[in-house]
Amino acid sequence: MEVIHTVAELRKYLQGVPNNVFVPTMGNLHEGHLRLVEEAAPRGACTVVSIFVNRLQFGPREDFDRYPRTLADDCRKLESIDCDVVFAPDEQELYPEPQTYTVQPSGIEDILEGAVRPGHFRGVATVVLKLFNMVQPHAAVFGKKDYQQCLVLQTMARQLALPVEIILAETVRAEDGLALSSRNQYLSAAERAEAPRLYRVLQEVRDAVRTGTHSWATIEAEAMTELERHGWRPDYITVRRRADLLPPKDEDRELVILGAARLGTPRLLDNLELTL
Ligand code: PAJ
Repeated sequence: MEVIHTVAELRKYLQGVPNNVFVPTMGNLHEGHLRLVEEAAPRGACTVVSIFVNRLQFGPREDFDRYPRTLADDCRKLESIDCDVVFAPDEQELYPEPQTYTVQPSGIEDILEGAVRPGHFRGVATVVLKLFNMVQPHAAVFGKKDYQQCLVLQTMARQLALPVEIILAETVRAEDGLALSSRNQYLSAAERAEAPRLYRVLQEVRDAVRTGTHSWATIEAEAMTELERHGWRPDYITVRRRADLLPPKDEDRELVILGAARLGTPRLLDNLELTL
């Protein structure tokens, strides 16, 4: 496994590689990230994982400075699976000048996570496009854990005709159902014990929608109340259609239930697909 820090070295290494599959990350890797790499490996001659904490996608009051940076540990984990290249540029390498040209995903960037985190998806789309141009993969793997991010990037690839196949991988969970996330380590022991409730509530919403006895608005409101009763501060629990994350119409069958809520300081995010 090669650990590469500059674009020049990366291009040199990848010259002549017929096709590579790319997994972009911000590091502090857990089983969820590693599963994406395992998903990527059989699909190309070379598996590239990037590790870069992207300032552009963090709001001014978010945890950019505190975001855990654990490159040596991450490399050890990647070494033990089928990863060929770790691309770990520093900020100077990725943003040598102010990034005045950006990718602006409109519409979807104003709802749900985009409404709570203004500018977030612009930052994500911009860095992913830039990384695509550096790595030039034929495919890239993203986790459904960040459902809206998947949709933003799929749409970007489609609308800008990027020659990159976007592959989506299922969310990896702890045994008690909690979706793995780098931010879970900020949870206290009591919060960690409480945290699986978010996924349970999404499952309850799914069951209630399937039963069809109450309106979705009622079901969503009850889910929010249940979380609040247990000390959460939910931003949203909502049933949307998968194609564009807008409120479903009567004929929509492919749905996803999305939830985001704060438990103490950490903000947890999860979702559950549902086909009617
Ligand atoms: P990061 O949060 O490090 O996540 C990297 C990739 O791992 C994303 O595709 C994310 O959806 C996926 N992932 C995280 N937790 C997962 C889980 N429990 N199961 C499956 N996949 C999981 O997402 C980002 O970084 C950044 O926004 C990035 C795309 C790298 C751009 O900076």
